[in-house]
Amino acid sequence: MAKVFAIANQKGGVGKTTTCINLAASLVATKRRVLLIDLDPQGNATMGSGVDKHALEYSVYDLLIGECDLAQAMQFSEHGGYQLLPANRDLTAAEVVLLDMQLKESRLRNALAPIRENYDYILIDCPPSLSMLTLNALVAADGVIIPMQCEYFALEGLSDLVDNIKRIAELLNPQLKIEGLLRTMYDPRLSLINDVSDQLKEHFGEQLYDTVIPRNIRLAEAPSFGMPALTYDKTSRGALAYLALAGEMVRRQRRNSRTAQAN
Ligand SMILES: Nc1ncnc2c1ncn2[C@@H]1O[C@H](COP(=O)(O)OP(=O)(O)O)[C@@H](O)[C@H]1O
Ligand SMILES: [Mg+2]
Repeated sequence: MAKVFAIANQKGGVGKTTTCINLAASLVATKRRVLLIDLDPQGNATMGSGVDKHALEYSVYDLLIGECDLAQAMQFSEHGGYQLLPANRDLTAAEVVLLDMQLKESRLRNALAPIRENYDYILIDCPPSLSMLTLNALVAADGVIIPMQCEYFALEGLSDLVDNIKRIAELLNPQLKIEGLLRTMYDPRLSLINDVSDQLKEHFGEQLYDTVIPRNIRLAEAPSFGMPALTYDKTSRGALAYLALAGEMVRRQRRNSRTAQAN
């Protein structure tokens, strides 16, 4: 049964999409079966996976409103090696259209139910907002991965997100938890970074991933070729960091399931 992770942070430009694409490809490299869901109308994860968002017959929007089935919307990222439910601007209408639908916050969860056992990991790329789309992602997910830049203001928005996750866990999805906090675009030369890192460790303890993602130009270049960094330049620091993250995630999973068995 797949673990479903929403990659969320209501701030834009913190590395959500970059994390989705590169983590998906890295999990594939470790022989996991992966589905990436683009839930952002900007369609960046779709383009970065090498799928043209302008040429879609069906997208995740049609799936959410019941206009197509999973197989019709499903694409494959050739360079990434994972399956993709793509998105484009059509998805902006979802905010309004979903409001009138029954079980509006569970549409994604229900759509995924029949295929959860076909994958080891399902990653959901969230839009930069706490909207109906993000709500659908958080209701469908087992855990939230929060990418963040280590800057002073990063901590400010974090408490809103954490409060939201708690509220959704209480009301709609009791198994939802914070899977991990990921430091992205990490530049150890910035003096502030150690302070912020220390604060994060204090607040989030083991939830903070040991792996940090460095600022790396290859990670920024790769999406314009529709590739993960692992295909574009597999020796780049960015590609290696995401491989390390996949390893840490898988080890964490194994440890958690051992603890669960022991209890
Ligand atoms: N580790 C990194 N090093 C260099 N550039 C990065 C890194 N992570 C993301 N970027 C670039 O920063 C911008 C924002 O990243 P993105 O993943 O799109 O953020 P989000 O999805 O949270 O809006 C993009 O142009 C992306 O290529
Ligand atoms: Mg994005």
